[in-house]
Amino acid sequence: MKSKRSEIINALKAADGKAISGEDLGRELGISRTMVCKYIKSLRDDNYEILSAPKKGYVLKSVPKLLYPDEILSGLKTTLFGKNIVYYEEANSSNDIAKKDALAAEEGTIVVVEQQTGGRGRLGRRWASPKGGIWFSTILKPRISLEKTSRLTLTFGLSVVKTIRMYGIDAKIKWPNDVLINGKKVSGILTEVEAEVDAVEFVVIGIGINVNMSLKDIPEDLRENSTTLRDETGKTFDRVEFLQKLLYEMEQDYIRFSTQPFSDIINEIVSLSDTIGKDVTVTMPNRIVSGVVVGISKTGALLLKRNDGAVEEIIAGRCLYSKK
Ligand code: BTN
Repeated sequence: MKSKRSEIINALKAADGKAISGEDLGRELGISRTMVCKYIKSLRDDNYEILSAPKKGYVLKSVPKLLYPDEILSGLKTTLFGKNIVYYEEANSSNDIAKKDALAAEEGTIVVVEQQTGGRGRLGRRWASPKGGIWFSTILKPRISLEKTSRLTLTFGLSVVKTIRMYGIDAKIKWPNDVLINGKKVSGILTEVEAEVDAVEFVVIGIGINVNMSLKDIPEDLRENSTTLRDETGKTFDRVEFLQKLLYEMEQDYIRFSTQPFSDIINEIVSLSDTIGKDVTVTMPNRIVSGVVVGISKTGALLLKRNDGAVEEIIAGRCLYSKK
């Protein structure tokens, strides 16, 4: 739901550098001029640069470059994803906060953290999360069985890839859910689930994207084979706009996931796959297999042609490309 604060921001943005009086703002929003004054003060406290032009009104000069909920909400085109936003400038891990709040939270709530001090990756690894990236978790309550949750991760990997590609960048998916640019990882997804025997209670989809930062901002031991959007393009991205686009893609893909055969999503993943045709080694809890990837099945499993010629379906595992 849009707050009065974000409605004021929208109205000031729509004025496009022209002054808008407190009286007009109040009328537009159905609040008193005194309340308008209070909201303007609280926006200034949060580093919105708002000038008061005598006898004319307020002019928005600049907005803070942070992922403030009001900023995300103003211009967000979704109805579910991000309709509630929990925001921290610093926290241990957005997934931890989301898991703690998930039972009481509405589906589609997101937790956004500007800087994570204990960011977590898959398989117990650390995830470097300095300022400048996008680190957030989405709480979902799908009516699916436990074994189908990995399909959600694949689906949202696709959403991330498509969003990056909107900026003219050739992003691809490395099975199961890494996002690569020029063979280097720019984003990862950590999905965590709470489930009864056969029904999922909630799923937390944690997404990390290396955006306006350089590899130098990441500890040396976590840099291997990684990259950032800024390092790849030399540009600085509007993270609010990026997150708005991503949440929209995620919502569209979640609707497709819930209403259409999963094979439709798989076909798109296959067309943007970096992994098909690669020589790989896949590590599973009880064994390691090597071979060449010949496809991704309709259920999202990796189709690996082993060195003995047999094709094996691998549902989950850590996939490493073999060095040439
Ligand atoms: C991986 O590729 O290993 C998954 C990385 C997932 C990182 C994100 S950042 C937001 C969310 N919070 C975390 O602690 N981890 C995920």
